[in-house]
Amino acid sequence: MAKVLIVGAGGVGNVVAHKCAQLPDVFTSIVLASRTLSRCEKIAKDVAELQGRQIETAQVDADDVEQMTGLLRRVKPNVVINVALPYQDLHIMDACLAAGVPYIDTANYEPKEIAKFEYKWQWAYQDRFRDANLLALLGSGFDPGVTNVYCAYAQKHLFDTIETIDILDCNGGDHGHAFATNFNPEINIREITQRGRYWENDNWVETDPLSICQDYDFPGVGTRKAYLLYHEELESLVKNIRGLRRIRFWMTFGEQYLTHLRVLQNVGMTRIDPVDFQGNKIVPVEFLKALLPDPASLGAGYTGKTSIGCEITGTKAGKPRKVFIYNVCDHAECWKEVRAQAVSYTTGVPAMIGALMVATSKWSGSGVFNIEQFDPDPFMDALNRYGLPWEIRES
Ligand SMILES: NC(=O)c1ccc[n+]([C@@H]2O[C@H](COP(=O)([O-])OP(=O)(O)OC[C@H]3O[C@@H](n4cnc5c(N)ncnc54)[C@H](OP(=O)(O)O)[C@@H]3O)[C@@H](O)[C@H]2O)c1
Repeated sequence: MAKVLIVGAGGVGNVVAHKCAQLPDVFTSIVLASRTLSRCEKIAKDVAELQGRQIETAQVDADDVEQMTGLLRRVKPNVVINVALPYQDLHIMDACLAAGVPYIDTANYEPKEIAKFEYKWQWAYQDRFRDANLLALLGSGFDPGVTNVYCAYAQKHLFDTIETIDILDCNGGDHGHAFATNFNPEINIREITQRGRYWENDNWVETDPLSICQDYDFPGVGTRKAYLLYHEELESLVKNIRGLRRIRFWMTFGEQYLTHLRVLQNVGMTRIDPVDFQGNKIVPVEFLKALLPDPASLGAGYTGKTSIGCEITGTKAGKPRKVFIYNVCDHAECWKEVRAQAVSYTTGVPAMIGALMVATSKWSGSGVFNIEQFDPDPFMDALNRYGLPWEIRES
């Protein structure tokens, strides 16, 4: 039925390739393209071994719009899943417009030279996608992604009015390294070291990085310290969830992780501006990435679970209500199924489901959409069917 082109052969791209391969009736043809061909070939070999499907591979520099457009015109996919880095988003959107292909991603565009997380650059494509009668689906990972769909589901089924949302992301796993990031180190460190921000009573409130924390009881993991961060889905949920009074995002970090991060920051290793080194310019955070474990390599031997969800308060039938909608995902189970750790898995499965929604026309439209703008029901069903079952804790 559908031909899918996956761009990016990292930890998440690996999961998307395996999960698309598990649906041969929908994704009849799969092409995996990335900057380094050998990484695509390695994934294709694993997919053949574990899922019994052959996928095609291709080399592409997605920052080169002409090259990317050429690939799209040659492959003629029904949908593109962009799981390269946020820097590539606009270039791949440009190529999709040129070749007439629907677009899906999991992270909003960031300019390389400033760590800024805003949808404005991608929302500016609204008229072009609408006029081309094409769909761009933004943020189809876990957070953003599943967490936005949980909010849309709560709005549709669980509440008459929603007052507050707290998105809580816990990785209770252990990869055995002194310091490693679970997805691209450069993107991860840029996100965590910026100032915190949340939305309350129609205003954005700024906080010092990692200065606010709370203990939270995460199902399947236990009580962990979660730190307030700014995260991109806050920006779209503020627009799309009616009547909201406050929304915040929290992520757990262990003491060991925070100590390493503090030292790296103090010595300048997380800087994103170029510095002179022996007559050459290097960007410290890019150099650091080269030293840290590749997130895709963390899966073997990773133990423990992730537990991510939305705590939502409001009213139903005139009474106050509080729920936590969440998923618990086991690192070792993910490794068995698709040779990935749970952070890549929880991102790659919803990216595949986003493509499934588009390929089967369960979701359609012309323009640029955030994921919570669509009917959450078919996506919530698919989460249960394809590896990320959800639960509701009522309190
Ligand atoms: N929403 C969520 O819940 C969520 C969670 C985690 C991650 N994410 C997002 O998922 C994406 C992938 O993360 P990851 O952990 O898989 O990262 P990763 O392991 O670093 O993989 C990124 C891949 O993109 C490729 N790439 C980079 N620049 C490219 C270019 N110009 N042209 C073509 N390919 C290029 C890289 O190629 P090389 O192999 O040559 O470096 C690499 O294979 C990121 O955007 C991340 O922000 C979203």
